[in-house]
Amino acid sequence: MNQATDKTVASLLRESTRLLKDSSDSARLDAELLLAHALGWQRVRLYGDSATAVRPEIAERFERLVQERRAGRPVAQLVGEREFWSLSLKVTADTLVPRAETELLVECALNRIPEDSVGPLLDLGTGSGAIALALASERPRAKIVATDISEPALAVARYNASTLNPDRIDFRFGDWFRPVEGELFAAVVCNPPYVTDQEWMLRKYELGYEPAQALRGGRSGLYALRRIIEEAPPHLLPGGWLLVEHGFRQGPVIANLFQATGFENISTYRDLPGRPRVTEGLWPDQHE
Ligand SMILES: C[S@@+](CC[C@H](N)C(=O)[O-])C[C@H]1O[C@@H](n2cnc3c(N)ncnc32)[C@H](O)[C@@H]1O
Repeated sequence: MNQATDKTVASLLRESTRLLKDSSDSARLDAELLLAHALGWQRVRLYGDSATAVRPEIAERFERLVQERRAGRPVAQLVGEREFWSLSLKVTADTLVPRAETELLVECALNRIPEDSVGPLLDLGTGSGAIALALASERPRAKIVATDISEPALAVARYNASTLNPDRIDFRFGDWFRPVEGELFAAVVCNPPYVTDQEWMLRKYELGYEPAQALRGGRSGLYALRRIIEEAPPHLLPGGWLLVEHGFRQGPVIANLFQATGFENISTYRDLPGRPRVTEGLWPDQHE
């Protein structure tokens, strides 16, 4: 028989928020998401039922989740999902946890892709499928290709597509543009690995549970970005757009790379905290 403890929803939240304060900037939110997950409740129910006693095995499960969070594991990995562009995405240790900054990349891309566009659109390094699925939800007529060099990440992306928007996205395995040789796109969108070696060392506690391949961009963080910008032109239709996310210190270098490659109408956009985060460029109709 299950016995109630003296632990209530409110007391567990209070104690775990205190424990998480040292390791998380969002201690209360983390605690709520983890407790709702352990209880199998919607988060909003925690408020109405805060006096409810929690069964011991659930309290123990929750306390183990809190310990893992304190060790640095992202909440999204612990609960197995993350909301992105109002889509609920499965997330595992094989995928990057989709970030709020990347919603800016989607927003910028949508500004360049007409509502009735048939594409084709390309999401390079799709991870959980976040960008491709957001684009698919907003541009119902567009053909979309999404690639990644990680088969386990592609399996998660395919699963997410199967639950959200089946048969809309063509997922392919391979190194950046390799899987789309000879194909042209109206827009290429990419959130590549761009963390510098130094940042990686400093933020290992925070980032170490996510795949290094999804985050590390070499000494300057530009290893992948440089390749993507330089290799994009043969894959863009005249008047097509390349949009990339990058580190907040990389804006000017990225804009220079776009220019040196022959892109026009280059702009960099800032994320919510006001840091340069996304750069776009137009591949001209007639390139000299
Ligand atoms: C920063 S994550 C972005 C994931 C997802 N697009 C998002 O925004 O949440 C970068 C992704 O690029 C993939 N990647 C890394 N190197 C790659 C390569 N050489 N070719 C294709 N994809 C690569 C990683 O596996 C990872 O899924």
